[in-house]
Amino acid sequence: MAQDISVDGGRLLSRLDRFAAIGATPRGGVNRQALTSGDREARALLASLGRERGFALRQDAAANLFLRREGANASLPPLLLGSHLDTQPTGGRFDGALGILAGLEVLETLEDAGVSTPRAVELVAWTNEEGSRFAPGAMGSRAFADETLPESWLEARAPDGARLGDELAQTLRALPDVPLAPLGARVASYLELHIEQGPILEREGLPIGVVSGIQGTRWLEVTLEGASAHAGTTPLAFRRDPMMAATAALAALQADVMPRDSDARLTVGRIKAEPGSINAIPERVRFTLDLRHPSQERLDEMDALVRTVCEREAERARCGLHVRLLNDMAPSAFPEAMLALAEAACTKAGLANRRIVSGAFHDALFLARKAPALMLFTPCRDGISHNEAEHVEPRFCVSGATALLETTLAVLCSL
Ligand code: GLV
Ligand code: MN
Ligand code: MN
Ligand code: MN
Repeated sequence: MAQDISVDGGRLLSRLDRFAAIGATPRGGVNRQALTSGDREARALLASLGRERGFALRQDAAANLFLRREGANASLPPLLLGSHLDTQPTGGRFDGALGILAGLEVLETLEDAGVSTPRAVELVAWTNEEGSRFAPGAMGSRAFADETLPESWLEARAPDGARLGDELAQTLRALPDVPLAPLGARVASYLELHIEQGPILEREGLPIGVVSGIQGTRWLEVTLEGASAHAGTTPLAFRRDPMMAATAALAALQADVMPRDSDARLTVGRIKAEPGSINAIPERVRFTLDLRHPSQERLDEMDALVRTVCEREAERARCGLHVRLLNDMAPSAFPEAMLALAEAACTKAGLANRRIVSGAFHDALFLARKAPALMLFTPCRDGISHNEAEHVEPRFCVSGATALLETTLAVLCSL
């Protein structure tokens, strides 16, 4: 295989600009939520770039899109590179797209240099990593790893009312020339480059993080049912107000969970009162909880606390309570051998690095069930992500792609 090949930084940076234009927001971010027209446009652009270079395309029932650069032995399972093209509603230009375009850059660099790899190298754009339009997140990679697309996911509804099954079908139809392959396939190894989405690498002045593992995530949807009544005429003793229960429960949880455990994360990203009238006690209040922790045991404890506190406050306000599990991702660790390979490859390329735990979840979590997997992080400005202001310095985009290329070559040699 090749020595001394290097990525084309200019090409990578101009591609990042091109994809950022799809779903661009006035404040410099991107709104390209999963399975929307913007997502379909980005998939079509990726497919056409792959086709131009002669890579073989395929998609599966979860609308995961694969670009394959063939290797010397076509029967060996491929080395897979991947990330996602969908974004948060007010997302940034790099969360997901950097990993896809750096992966494409690796395939193209191999192609430019005419490198023959012993096995195929593939790039995949996973569907709906973010999970903010349709829960759970990392849907495409999870379906690929489990080789099934659960019926309940197809019935999931977006806040805009769209049904996931319909959006998926439309997305698959939008690329009529890309053949449909079965869900799941053998994979030799999986690599993903992503932005850190936190402040550590920037603070320490390091271009690369070698991700040792991913903390656990659990999403709950809490519904409190009361009775709608007149805001002006209903005395306290007559109220069954789900907003009183919701605010009391959330205040108690926020005062308890994170202040007592610096590793714990608790976020309420969505809350809705129905019918939503200024002068009516709501009939129903629904909110989501995003819980994170590196320890499975602590995540279970946080989940149990949420249920206990919500039950107590629901009872106090004489309201009904329903808690639904939307997403459950156990903490995971990447194999030591993969970490050592990546560290050596990055160090040899002159890229200083450190190990780091991911606070965000990623598709690699599910690929790790199928094959030795690894993630690399780049720094981002002020640790900001899931925000239109998200920014990665151009030199760190290029060093991230370089790290991905060098790790790809090292992993290919090790297989
Ligand atoms: C997904 O991007 C997450 O970690 O929330
Ligand atoms: Mn991401
Ligand atoms: Mn994200
Ligand atoms: Mn993520």
